[in-house]
Amino acid sequence: MATDQYEVLGDSPGPEELENLSPNDLHLRIKKLNAGYGKMAILHDFDLFVSKAQSLCLVGPNGAGKSTILHSIYGFTNIFSGQIEIEGKEITSMTPAEKLKSVGIAYILQDNSVFPDMTVEENLLMGGYIKDKTEESYEEAEKIFEKYDRLRNRRNQAAKVLSGGERRLLEISRALVMKPSVLLVDEPSIGLEPRYIEMVFEILNDLQKSEKKTIIIVEQNAKKGLEFADIGYVLVSGQTAIAGSGDELLENPDVGRLFLGG
Ligand SMILES: Nc1ncnc2c1ncn2[C@@H]1O[C@H](COP(=O)(O)OP(=O)(O)O)[C@@H](O)[C@H]1O
Ligand SMILES: [Mg+2]
Repeated sequence: MATDQYEVLGDSPGPEELENLSPNDLHLRIKKLNAGYGKMAILHDFDLFVSKAQSLCLVGPNGAGKSTILHSIYGFTNIFSGQIEIEGKEITSMTPAEKLKSVGIAYILQDNSVFPDMTVEENLLMGGYIKDKTEESYEEAEKIFEKYDRLRNRRNQAAKVLSGGERRLLEISRALVMKPSVLLVDEPSIGLEPRYIEMVFEILNDLQKSEKKTIIIVEQNAKKGLEFADIGYVLVSGQTAIAGSGDELLENPDVGRLFLGG
């Protein structure tokens, strides 16, 4: 596997090629990013382009640095060099709170982060804890309840009664209370039964198509992730080895052999 991955790394796509995948209305850009944890660099001269209301899926082996990309965008890593920009404005060293509040970047955790003893409604309102006006959080929560009756039907019950799929829906919805324009979603299908996996991708698809959210997703289930996303980057050892439209990558024999079990 390791040798195959290095072969694939041979002709890494440059920034021009990546930019061509996101030609309109650039929303978020990463320029030559070197970032990691402590003194250890995980990402090496990493570039990324994503247009407004486009979805990008990061796939690749465990430990490749996929979550580290989301962490870097949100502000959980050490950035040694390079820039992150939203609509042309540099945000590299903003705190996560500033990113959520002023540039609308929300991070949806990989780990289960629902508070089991709080009600569904209280969990939802937690998403707006950072907002200056609490009535806005109530309004957003109300919109979410209008949209998802699975949550509305249980709004006054403790979140621990929710099924796995409903919990994931609550985790995603909680981020929406802040009305973000960019959603960073780490492995939304992990630990879910197949029928809930479908539901989660339908929700993400709706957020992209009807609410024009820009979505960057990490997905271990490469097939699902690439079927959902407009474009995909295959990450190997902190660098993009292959990039293309979701459909191109699904048909790429190297991607198939390495990540789709084909
Ligand atoms: N908080 C952390 N502190 C130190 N090293 C980390 C931390 N999180 C991840 N790493 C390391 O960074 C590398 C990339 O991890 P990660 O981005 O989580 O990979 P992926 O999401 O692609 O599986 C791994 O070697 C991992 O051990
Ligand atoms: Mg990860």
